[in-house]
Amino acid sequence: MQLADSELRAGGDGAAEHDAAQLGAAERNARKLGVWLLVLVGMVFVMVVLGGLTRLTGSGLSMVDWRPVTGWLPPITDAEWRAVFGLYREIPQYREINEGMTLDGFKSIFWLEYVHRLWGRLIGLAFALPFLYFLYRRLISRKMAPWLISMFILGGLQGVLGWYMVKSGLALRTDVSQYRLTAHLVAAMLIYGYMLWVALSLLRGPGGWRLDPANKGLAWFTAIVAACIALTMTSGGFVAGLDAGLTYNTFPLMDGSLVPHGLFIGEPAWLNLFENITTVQFDHRLLAEVTVILVLALWIYARRRLSAGIARTAFDLMALLAVLQLALGIVTLLLVVPVALAATHQAGAFILLALSIWAVHALGSSALSNQIRSI
Ligand code: HEM
Repeated sequence: MQLADSELRAGGDGAAEHDAAQLGAAERNARKLGVWLLVLVGMVFVMVVLGGLTRLTGSGLSMVDWRPVTGWLPPITDAEWRAVFGLYREIPQYREINEGMTLDGFKSIFWLEYVHRLWGRLIGLAFALPFLYFLYRRLISRKMAPWLISMFILGGLQGVLGWYMVKSGLALRTDVSQYRLTAHLVAAMLIYGYMLWVALSLLRGPGGWRLDPANKGLAWFTAIVAACIALTMTSGGFVAGLDAGLTYNTFPLMDGSLVPHGLFIGEPAWLNLFENITTVQFDHRLLAEVTVILVLALWIYARRRLSAGIARTAFDLMALLAVLQLALGIVTLLLVVPVALAATHQAGAFILLALSIWAVHALGSSALSNQIRSI
């Protein structure tokens, strides 16, 4: 509940004290929910990094079934390990790439995928248990509940999408579809961005977030740059999904020229954007370069408009990270996608996305947490 000063005074001293106490309690409750959601955002970030490592180490197809509720225990006995390995030996990835792999070799790829899925379940628990507790303590109002429940549903759908992605690599091909991989990545971005936004709004207290009219232009510019970061990340999903980073390992030239040959060699032309390795890598470079230029232009503009403070810090960090991310992308490419660098590049992208969301948020004044019920 948000109360104006005049309302607080109008009720006389006793009423004012009561209202102030209510406001204080509402503020504390909103912050509790905000901190909880922020922890969940951190857990989603770890999930993304685990997912990246799973893909980069070729571990993603080691679990060929999905049992969302009962499948949280790994194989324990030797017979169980052999049964799971037996299932893996039936898929094309084993036959065409990993033929002759030992059980120990299989275990080493199995664990990453297992931990990735286990972490997903833990996120579900870290959401559901506090949610039920907060509901019981009446900290979540009817209006706030759908925002939170939709996060839970999105998380569950992401699990289904992850399985749909894995399925694409179990029958005819040795890896997963770049479309499904990118859809899984984009869904992760949506969940992460959405949770972060709601968390930041709650951390502002019961007033929530409202666009400050004085910062309207800057906020729009920042939102457009955030969308460009998201688009560059989406194109990165196609680079990863097609292993397009294993070719054209030079920068800025591709095959000796700034604009490589064969960009639109396939028919229809638009399909090259998603299926032609040359075009996909070229797009990612181009989008990244344009995005970083926009981030730097935004940074200069924001520094002129904003005095020192939290919002300015958000723009400073965003500019710094964008330049680092560009450099990291280039080094990852030049060194032909080493696991550690590629995983850091993916993590860097999610941090950059978070900074851009934080920057837009920092330009607002204190609507979401209006929904928080005071106790
Ligand atoms: C703002 C700048 C950039 C952003 C936000 C960004 C983001 C991303 C993302 C999200 C991925 C997908 C990672 C995954 O799913 O595993 C990716 C992959 C990749 N990016 Fe970037 N990127 C940027 C700049 C660059 C640049 C400048 C280059 C090189 C010239 C580059 C090279 C690559 C390569 C080679 C991959 C595939 C790595 C792999 O197979 O895991 N990136 N990028």
